[in-house]
Amino acid sequence: MTLIVTDRDGKEQIIAGQTGMSLMELLRDAGFDEVLALCGGCCSCATCHIYVDPAFTESLPALGSDEDDLLDSSPFRTANSRLSCQIVYHDELEGLKIFVAPEE
Ligand code: FES
Repeated sequence: MTLIVTDRDGKEQIIAGQTGMSLMELLRDAGFDEVLALCGGCCSCATCHIYVDPAFTESLPALGSDEDDLLDSSPFRTANSRLSCQIVYHDELEGLKIFVAPEE
């Protein structure tokens, strides 16, 4: 199981996916230090902001209201914005493409 991550420098990298782990945890374990994830995944910091390939939107959990509010605080929010700590990896996300959002 894999996912494809593009970092802030535009470099693409394939990393391992693991069912039950959040995308933020997968990014952290793969060494993406630019994803600060300061709150540790409790949906209160927005430093785990990513953009998700719209082709996978239907396989993602619905946007939560806390997540929505936090994303609203970002000047870099787009229609494809999500907080990576709020998405748990599962089989249907095989090959998921994500992009690390710019630093705020
Ligand atoms: S790690 Fe803080 S909101 Fe995702």
